[in-house]
Amino acid sequence: MSGLDQIDSYVRDLCIPADPVLDSFEQDVAAANMPAIQVPAELGKLLGMLVRIGGARRVLEIGTLGGYSAAWIARALPPDGRVVTLEKSTKHAAFARSFVDRAGVGEKVQILVGAALETLPSLFEREDPTFDMAFIDADKASYPAYLDWTLRLVRTGGVIVGDNVLRAGKVMVPGDDADLQGLAEFNRHAASSPLLDTLIIPNRGGQDGILVAVVK
Ligand code: SAH
Ligand code: DHB
Ligand code: MG
Repeated sequence: MSGLDQIDSYVRDLCIPADPVLDSFEQDVAAANMPAIQVPAELGKLLGMLVRIGGARRVLEIGTLGGYSAAWIARALPPDGRVVTLEKSTKHAAFARSFVDRAGVGEKVQILVGAALETLPSLFEREDPTFDMAFIDADKASYPAYLDWTLRLVRTGGVIVGDNVLRAGKVMVPGDDADLQGLAEFNRHAASSPLLDTLIIPNRGGQDGILVAVVK
């Protein structure tokens, strides 16, 4: 274990209480032959804290995987709060359904199956199409498009969070990698947008980062 991993473990041991369901995710997702690319527990906790600080009731997530980050968010929501989470893989969505049910927050989580760029337009057909917070964590090449959509969907004063925005610094030299190019464009657009107040916060021992933006 490197020194930076030890710092993450130190924070986790001090600040993240044991939770039988959340703690089982990593093993269960690997056993299902799905990628274990969920947020680290301390980022799950931060997402929940952002929900509480902002008094969020409606949260949009792009990229469900097995429902780990959605469970952290849903646990922080009030009883009438909802997470709408978008996932293209039917297998991931089915795993997520059972995981959020097991985590005791199933009734707060709606999973929309399909490519996000195809399901996002349907959100405008809802009675109240606005969200208090969005968490972007799906395919990295589409992050610029997801930012455009979330700018339309998240209310003034709401928060947009993007995961994996530093990629060990590789976003600074994206070359011809479509994922890195998408992330670099997402960061540039969010940081320079007059509609947003933006910060990028390194995490994962400095190996990656999250972007947090408040809608002005
Ligand atoms: N937020 C999750 C991790 C998401 S991993 C967590 O922290 O627990 C990224 C997910 O995005 C994967 O499940 C992948 O299938 C999904 N995904 C990739 N491209 C997508 C797309 N175009 N539309 C919707 N989901 C997509
Ligand atoms: C990958 C995707 C993620 O959202 C993440 O948090 C880590 C890794 C990936 O596609 O490799
Ligand atoms: Mg991620």
